[in-house]
Amino acid sequence: MRGKSVLLVIGGGIAAYKALELIRRLAERGVKTRAILTSAGAQFVTPLSVAALTGNRVFSDLFSLTDESEMGHIELSRAADLVVVAPATADLMGKLAAGLANDLASTALIATDKPILMAPAMNVRMWQSPPVRRNLETLKSDGVLFVGPGDGEMACGEFGPGRMAEPLEIIAAIEAALTNHGGPLNGLKALVTAGPTQEPLDPIRFLANRSSGKQGYAIAGALAAAGADVALVSGPVEIAPPPHVNLIKVGTARQMLRACEAQLPADIAVMSAAVADWRPESPASGKIKKDDGRAVPEIRLVENPDILATLAKSSNRPRLLIGFAAETDHVRAHASAKRARKGADWILANDVSADGEGRSVMGGDRNQIHLITVETEESWPEMSKADAARRLVQHIVRHFQETQT
Ligand code: C5P
Repeated sequence: MRGKSVLLVIGGGIAAYKALELIRRLAERGVKTRAILTSAGAQFVTPLSVAALTGNRVFSDLFSLTDESEMGHIELSRAADLVVVAPATADLMGKLAAGLANDLASTALIATDKPILMAPAMNVRMWQSPPVRRNLETLKSDGVLFVGPGDGEMACGEFGPGRMAEPLEIIAAIEAALTNHGGPLNGLKALVTAGPTQEPLDPIRFLANRSSGKQGYAIAGALAAAGADVALVSGPVEIAPPPHVNLIKVGTARQMLRACEAQLPADIAVMSAAVADWRPESPASGKIKKDDGRAVPEIRLVENPDILATLAKSSNRPRLLIGFAAETDHVRAHASAKRARKGADWILANDVSADGEGRSVMGGDRNQIHLITVETEESWPEMSKADAARRLVQHIVRHFQETQT
């Protein structure tokens, strides 16, 4: 890590004193540190000690003309190889998760194009509270890295998770973030499909389905966070793309197929889109009118191309081709047959029958998956779609590590 540089954001918490030791340990390893001290952070450590240890001036004011003329806040956020937030308070996590930027620290966190590593520190109840859990989930799926917090007695007298990781643990996480060159899938190209397709009946009506795109977007985000170069080919959905993915928006199944083929060759392809199996044979060029006396129109359907099966047969077949199977009965047996029939390497099968209250996996936030490969079958517990995406990416990483050795 010698010769690298870190932008350290020091938030307001009793653990801020450990940030001073972190700066010293980084200096010992030849890492240069610039520091942003939040106004709450300055209640716990002084700008003078931070400046003395970094050997640099301390940045704290978004609207300081002197700061801006020396080094603008955007440049400050990008000059380092890694941004480290220690202590990461509930406030800083919440601001980044929500996209708020009302001071130098939060602005730099949003503006940076470098990886972010957070070392959270807060009271155990705060750490376990639903809003902090939600923000943690969001930040993880945005690719933010975390170290800690650890368990133990806290300054406030309570006991449990919330203690900031020790400086040497943070150093180890910094080293991993700096030497991974962005992650274990670095150098691999991934293609992900997501969302529904819309098959027009006329210029204003279409056939579609309830797919929200959440699972596919989470997978694209997790692949990008692991360092892959990700193209996300998406049908119409209402969610924002994850950072660092190349989003290609399409409408129909045939457009989706063309967009996928244009992305080949690829190392990894995850086909999570709910592609319409059929489309209206000849969409009307003008609006189909409901004129009195006219018969109810009939819609003739024709079959859409199967994107997964087409890529499986392509001369440019992705090295690892993964499909989904949404089933309502005999989930594993049907999915296993589908894997073989479509020529995929792995199938992620899930039960999409509605629960007792009519909720289905489609559109929801949680998923229960069976991973089916040529040799193995494994059932995962129910988990959030973001966690399922990360678990899938762990399998993908292992697969490429094994095939390379
Ligand atoms: O046959 P079924 O729709 O259940 O297959 C699901 C899998 O096949 C998913 O991975 C889906 O993205 C893919 N698929 C496709 N093109 C289609 C239909 C499904 O790529 N026309």
